[in-house]
Amino acid sequence: MCAYYEDGQEKIRQGDIANYLTNQIEILEAKHLKESKTMRIRYRSNDKEISLEVPYKTVMNAMTLISRAPKKEPKINEMGQEVVEGYACKPKDFDPDRPIMHFKYQIFICDDERCTKAAKTDKAAWLREILKDMGLNQGKDRIKISRTGCFGACRFRQVAECVANTQANGKAENNALWFRHTHRWDEKQWRALFAALRDDKALSSCIDASAYIPMKVYGE
Ligand code: FES
Repeated sequence: MCAYYEDGQEKIRQGDIANYLTNQIEILEAKHLKESKTMRIRYRSNDKEISLEVPYKTVMNAMTLISRAPKKEPKINEMGQEVVEGYACKPKDFDPDRPIMHFKYQIFICDDERCTKAAKTDKAAWLREILKDMGLNQGKDRIKISRTGCFGACRFRQVAECVANTQANGKAENNALWFRHTHRWDEKQWRALFAALRDDKALSSCIDASAYIPMKVYGE
């Protein structure tokens, strides 16, 4: 619900330049106050700030629109959704069916004390940049990077785990693979890993065995 200029058509919006009574004014704020079902209109006139509170749908007599700043392009997140103002990626329309957006693989990278000390730099941020560059930060082949606390495997630091989204299009063969000493991996190695995941290759066929933390199967 809004308040309107004298013509009853144009909504009063923040940033508008208007005539009100005999003065030119600038609308500094046009805010909905849900509880009282009113609009707060704050405007500047002759270097003074004035605030009014009017019921929803009020038509402001003697207030006419002169000009309006072009509407800001909405910010769109990597999943193509409109973002809430002031946020980096929070979607405006929350879709309860997608509390976590699609990913094909999720790489957990240990961000706890010992692993971070070995890594020296923010690996997660760096890997996200590589994924962006490869176009794997979105879409059906999306690879999600998540920081995690200590895995309890500090002697293999910096530890990372690859989890395949087998509910979707992740390959079961690449699920629950643990990598060691990833702080020594260079960009080429990470790109090779990401490309293999994108291309649905089994990592065991293209990543050297020395990269993995050996796992035992219970009972065998
Ligand atoms: S701090 Fe990374 S596994 Fe312990």
